[in-house]
Amino acid sequence: MGRLPSRRYASEDLHIRGVLGGGVAQASRDQWSSSFGFFAAAVGSAVGLGNMWRFSYLTAEKGGAAFVALYLVFTLVIGIPVLLAELTLGRGAQKGPIGALAHFGGERWKALGALFVVTGFLILSYYSVIAGWTLRYALESLTVGIPRDAAAHFGSVSEGADAFLFHALFMAITMVIVGGGVSRGIERVSVVAMPLLFVLVCALALYGATLENSAGGYRYYLNADFANALSLDVLVAAAGQAFFSLSLGMGAMMTFASYLPREAHLTRESWVIASADFGVAFLAGLMVFPIIFALGLQGAVGESTLGALFVALPGAFAEMGGTGRFVGLLFFVALVVGALTSALSLFEVVVSAAIDELGWSRPKAVLIMGVLVTLLGAGAAWNIAVLDLMDQVANNLFLLAGGLALAVFTGWVMDEPIAEARAGLGSSRGLGIWRFLLRWVVPPVLIFVLWHSVPATLENLWMFFAG
Ligand code: PHE
Repeated sequence: MGRLPSRRYASEDLHIRGVLGGGVAQASRDQWSSSFGFFAAAVGSAVGLGNMWRFSYLTAEKGGAAFVALYLVFTLVIGIPVLLAELTLGRGAQKGPIGALAHFGGERWKALGALFVVTGFLILSYYSVIAGWTLRYALESLTVGIPRDAAAHFGSVSEGADAFLFHALFMAITMVIVGGGVSRGIERVSVVAMPLLFVLVCALALYGATLENSAGGYRYYLNADFANALSLDVLVAAAGQAFFSLSLGMGAMMTFASYLPREAHLTRESWVIASADFGVAFLAGLMVFPIIFALGLQGAVGESTLGALFVALPGAFAEMGGTGRFVGLLFFVALVVGALTSALSLFEVVVSAAIDELGWSRPKAVLIMGVLVTLLGAGAAWNIAVLDLMDQVANNLFLLAGGLALAVFTGWVMDEPIAEARAGLGSSRGLGIWRFLLRWVVPPVLIFVLWHSVPATLENLWMFFAG
């Protein structure tokens, strides 16, 4: 973070946009007020439940370090190029996905942008249900403490009216912040939330190191079992996780970049964002696994499911008495903070589309879209199997397909992507490799992954509906 100069963005930037950006800036469009503001919001989007909950449960389910290694490879080879593509498109067009794709590709590309908005809608509606669980656990740790029978407790709060209520509460908070606008709502919250989250995760990882038997946790986490990692199922999960964790494939990063001035250095931003995102995921593993192993709960992890962490960890905290309650509080606060800043970006995609494409005012867009997302989340709140399905459909289909389309669009369709990426203060170092990856590496890899994830996901959908 230290290397990032936090300069204030001058409003004159609005007038020096080059021809490539195509643009006369709209006078009324909000902008980040400093480079740190953008950085905090973008990292806030990337770092969330994906890093703490999803990363840990997938790592446990898919066999430890080998999954982590694969996920890292996908982040480098596919994630960072697509991230830079999103930043390039968003900043260049000064529009969210629908407008940006039309700007660089013509009207018919609008449909893809619209699909992104739908994806944001879908992800937010179940993401907020999980965030609601974390909110509840945080409040409970603060007030009454989490009951010792964590499994029964999770069973009773993860589905039904309770789950819906906390989901609605979480959405209400998201709506208030996004209603404040980009620089005065999202940015103001992110510049405080991100440093706080970072401190919390570091503190918890250090605490994990002090526990007896933490070595067992590290061994489990860091010992690669590559025989296991080469299964297609693990490959698909690692690719989906790389996209989900970096908020890619549905225009969230594109939307945030649309509030950037021309002077931003996009290549550097993408490296820093991706490193921060991976760093927090890695640290989250360092905090989760020692805690679980210290209490001999590894059985619960081996057969990990989506809810396992919400049972194993609270159970562990309850066992540890007073300290546990405090550590649990910090842990769930970290989850809430991470979830909130990610939800802001998901919601901003939907809200900005309504503002740009339907001409709505921000308050109207926030209110109507917020209520719709809350209602759509009812399914996931009522039945955890629905939530699991929505997560699979969103990640293994929509985000991967969205990433594929973005790579093809930027690599093959758009004119002069390199000039656009380097515009402002950027340099052209590495951009030739970037375009090569977008053209020749990202599409075949994603087609391969989709080839396996589409039938598997459709089969799960089918099994769900056929009973
Ligand atoms: N990246 C977020 C996380 O890790 C989730 C997210 C996905 C946010 C897609 C925005 C868009 O929790």
